[in-house]
Amino acid sequence: MISLHDSKRSDGLDAEGAAVSGEWHTAPQPFSILTATWRDVGELRVLEAECFGEDAWPLLDVISVLTIGGIVRLKAVIHERMVGFIAGDPREEDTAWITTLGVRAPYRRLGIATALLAECEKQMRRPVIRLCVRKDNQPALQLYTKAGYRHVSVWWNYYRDGQDAFVLEKKLAEFNS
Ligand SMILES: CC(C)(COP(=O)(O)OP(=O)(O)OC[C@H]1O[C@@H](n2cnc3c(N)ncnc32)[C@H](O)[C@@H]1OP(=O)(O)O)[C@@H](O)C(=O)NCCC(=O)NCCS
Repeated sequence: MISLHDSKRSDGLDAEGAAVSGEWHTAPQPFSILTATWRDVGELRVLEAECFGEDAWPLLDVISVLTIGGIVRLKAVIHERMVGFIAGDPREEDTAWITTLGVRAPYRRLGIATALLAECEKQMRRPVIRLCVRKDNQPALQLYTKAGYRHVSVWWNYYRDGQDAFVLEKKLAEFNS
């Protein structure tokens, strides 16, 4: 019989790939940032559900973000498993929108979201980046503030439960030519 501790993989996922909470029992692994593809649909659905609960995207939206042309889609990977995901839409001429960002629970506070955000901003190549975030999502608000985003407006009753969204914006000097 194996104990809970023994059954936990060093990448923080259990044998079926479901996230398990608790302490690392080995040092955190370095992560890679790679372009995501339609093959990531299963792992992205799991990540979405874990990160966003009832606000998680339905299957059609998950497929769309992994396939629509022009979208920047990046995954953070540890031991060939997706532990974080970001997508950005640069299809407007001057403004790009971050459309989703999530990191699986056992892998948070390791700088993964910060790294995904920086790479996505770089690949979108737009002078203005915008996103919306729940008014009560303190971890995300702290992350974005630290990354240089500033509050520009509010979308009232934006989320399913009636919560408002803050619209945040960052201006990237290197793309203001
Ligand atoms: C928000 C989220 C993406 C952050 O991912 P992460 O990989 O843990 O973020 P990072 O490690 O890059 O954190 C960068 C900074 O953000 C802030 N931050 C992140 N999580 C925080 C938390 N739980 N509490 C307070 N500040 C937090 C800190 O300032 C942190 O820097 P520090 O660790 O040096 O103090 C992650 O918690 C998540 O996936 N949450 C659920 C989905 C979600 O809310 N997505 C955003 C939707 S807009």
